[in-house]
Amino acid sequence: MTTTLRRLATILTLALAALLGASPSYAQSDSLRIGIIGTGNIGGALARHWANAGHEVFVSSRHPEELQALVDELGPRAQAGLPADAAAFGDIILVSVPYSAMPQVGAELAPAMAGKVVLDTSNPVARRDGAITEFALGLGSGVATAQFLPGARIVRAYNCIPAASLAGQANRQPARIAIPLAGDDAEALEIAQRLVSDSGFDPVVVGPLEVARHFDLGQPLARGDLSAAEYRALIDEVL
Ligand SMILES: NC(=O)c1ccc[n+]([C@@H]2O[C@H](COP(=O)([O-])OP(=O)(O)OC[C@H]3O[C@@H](n4cnc5c(N)ncnc54)[C@H](OP(=O)(O)O)[C@@H]3O)[C@@H](O)[C@H]2O)c1
Repeated sequence: MTTTLRRLATILTLALAALLGASPSYAQSDSLRIGIIGTGNIGGALARHWANAGHEVFVSSRHPEELQALVDELGPRAQAGLPADAAAFGDIILVSVPYSAMPQVGAELAPAMAGKVVLDTSNPVARRDGAITEFALGLGSGVATAQFLPGARIVRAYNCIPAASLAGQANRQPARIAIPLAGDDAEALEIAQRLVSDSGFDPVVVGPLEVARHFDLGQPLARGDLSAAEYRALIDEVL
C-alpha cells in the first residue's frame, strides 16, 4: 500500500472511530506502525522481531544510510530515515538510546511523540551517561523519561534483558523470558504487551510508571532471564 493510501486508511479509521464515539483501536489483527529511535543492539533486535511478526518498522539513525543493510534484510515492511521521520511515522515509538541522549531526543522529538505510545528501553548508566544518571535513578527512569517526553504514553520495557538474549532467545523453550513493563496508560500497556508477545517474550505488567524504578538496573526486579511465573513470584517477594 502506498503511503498516501495508508494515510487515507488511517484518516478513515479515525473518522469512523470519532463517529462511533470510540478512540482509535489497535486491533489484534492490525499490523502496527512502529518508529524506532535508536537502532542499536536493542532497537535493531526489536526491529527484526517486529518486522518478522508482520509489523511495519521505521528504523532511524542520525546517519540513516548506515541502516540500509538492515532494511534490505528486513524486506518491504521496513524503511529507514532520520529520528524525526521515525517519530512522525510511528503510531508506536520505541526509544532506545543512551540515556544521556534523552534531553536532546525530548527537545527535538517530544512534540511528534505526544499522545503516542512510547516504549522506553533506555537505561541511565553512570560511566556512559554521566550526571543525568543520578537525576534519572533518583526519580526512577520511567518517571524521568516522562519528564523528557511530556504527553507521550510511556511504557518502560525491555530495559533489563541483555541485548544478546533479546536477539537470540525469542520464544525460549520451555518457557519464554519475561519482560517487565510499567506504565500509567492502560491502552499503552495493552499495546506494549502485544508487542512483547509478538517479539517472542512474555509481558509481565509490574504496575504504574512509578514502579519502573524497581527494575532499573541494579534493582531487585531487574531480571532478564526468568519465566513469567518466576518473575511474578519475584514481584510478590520484592513489592
Ligand atoms: N545493550 C544491552 O544489553 C541493553 C539491554 C537493555 C537496555 N539497554 C539500554 O537500551 C538503550 C540502547 O541500548 P543499545 O545497546 O541498543 O545501544 P546502542 O547499540 O549504543 O544504540 C544506541 C543508538 O542510539 C542512537 N542515538 C544515540 N544518541 C542519539 C541521539 N542524540 N538522538 C538519536 N539517536 C541517538 C544511536 O544511533 P545513531 O548513532 O545511529 O544515530 C545508536 O544506534 C541504552 O539506554 C541501554 O542502556 C541496553
